[in-house]
Amino acid sequence: MPDSIAIVGLGYVGLPLALQFLRSGVSVLGLDVDPAKVAALNAGQSYIHHLPASEFVPFLADGRFRAGTDFAQLRGVAAVLICVPTPLTRNREPDLSHVLNTGRSIAPHLAPGMLVVLESTTYPGTTDGELRAVLEAGSGLQAGREFHIAYSPEREDPGNPRSRVAEIPKLVGGLTPACRDRACALYSRAVRTVVPVSSCRVAEAAKLTENIFRGVNIALVNELKVIFSAMGIDVWEVIEAARTKPFGYMPFFPGPGLGGHCVPIDPFYLAWKAREFGQTTRFIELAGEINTAMPAYVVGRVAEALNDRGRPLKGSRILVLGLAYKAGVDDDRESPSYHLMDLLKERGAVVYYHDPYVPVIRPNREHTHWAGTRSVAWSEAEIRSMDAVVVSTAHPGVNYSELASWAPLIVDTRNAIAGIPTRPGQLWKA
Ligand SMILES: NC(=O)c1ccc[n+]([C@@H]2O[C@H](COP(=O)([O-])OP(=O)(O)OC[C@H]3O[C@@H](n4cnc5c(N)ncnc54)[C@H](O)[C@@H]3O)[C@@H](O)[C@H]2O)c1
Repeated sequence: MPDSIAIVGLGYVGLPLALQFLRSGVSVLGLDVDPAKVAALNAGQSYIHHLPASEFVPFLADGRFRAGTDFAQLRGVAAVLICVPTPLTRNREPDLSHVLNTGRSIAPHLAPGMLVVLESTTYPGTTDGELRAVLEAGSGLQAGREFHIAYSPEREDPGNPRSRVAEIPKLVGGLTPACRDRACALYSRAVRTVVPVSSCRVAEAAKLTENIFRGVNIALVNELKVIFSAMGIDVWEVIEAARTKPFGYMPFFPGPGLGGHCVPIDPFYLAWKAREFGQTTRFIELAGEINTAMPAYVVGRVAEALNDRGRPLKGSRILVLGLAYKAGVDDDRESPSYHLMDLLKERGAVVYYHDPYVPVIRPNREHTHWAGTRSVAWSEAEIRSMDAVVVSTAHPGVNYSELASWAPLIVDTRNAIAGIPTRPGQLWKA
């Protein structure tokens, strides 16, 4: 049984996984191309809000955890788990560069008998195709014979305090049965339930299926929201009613659009790959279209609400409440809040945001023009000075009763104000 593994990519997925292996008695070498992350970890600091540094410090102290940037440190490691990003290119096509660069970095240090597992979300065929090719080319070793290769998708639920890596069943597919068994044995040390499947491709397809299911169902409920709203029916009340059915229904909730690294992106990995097989992905495209239209719908509701008060959007002071894409996390990747802010600004509004998890907007690839903008203080004076507040992310810890008593107008995309008394015409759902 291996007692020392490496995890490449110490982000939202890699870091919690590292911690779970450490807790299970496995030593972990963390590798990342970002020297700032490596330095922070080695100094006992965390850069992920819901993962306090105190969790790591004991393992740094006893020498079982160390972080680095040099892949030569892989010497002596029994297995390497890859948790690097799989984004889309500018043309919304799969960008495997991080995965393949990682493969190229690992290959020269690949020793006979090593296990390499890809965890990043991707289309079927990546592990036994592109990744295998770079590992074999760079090492001169043959996958399945001289080293093992497997795919095991991450199923992290960031910000959910009840979600524990150890409790989430882990799918594992291998290039050969021996690859799969080897990977299953490794994960069994850290995770309660390991689910073997017949191939890497089945495991890759299962992960995409999970996220496509989410994206399509969120699109469905977003469309129903717009339809019911036109009929004067509150979709949130409808969902609460429907979910009392004990079978055949599962609630999904509407919002201002999709966010995060997974649900808005992963379906397009399948859509791209499907074209190679002459297949179209109509559900994926339609869901993408509906979800992408949500920020514009919300901005339309803001304009309507202001208009009702005789105010134009242009020149109005609008606070977007919640910048992270999801409640309880500091992750703002692909957040629909940015689309809301852009659209509001384009229409002449003066735009602010408040997010207790994101005190300042860090430089990022997609929204460089907002970098450096700071979260406005949560105070009666600030909130009263706004013409409208748009609840984009329903973070815990925000005082929605104070919001309802201070804000002149609230446009709520998350039903965060449910059950809190408001004044007539003050609350608009979107
Ligand atoms: N965040 C989630 O909730 C979640 C859930 C399930 C699956 N996933 C999938 O897991 C993968 C990783 O996502 P994440 O959210 O952890 O990303 P992340 O951006 O938080 O972390 C990725 C890390 O990899 C590092 N990296 C990039 N290229 C590298 C290279 N060549 N060598 C070494 N390190 C490199 C980056 O510096 C970064 O620290 C993606 O495929 C994503 O789709 C994410």
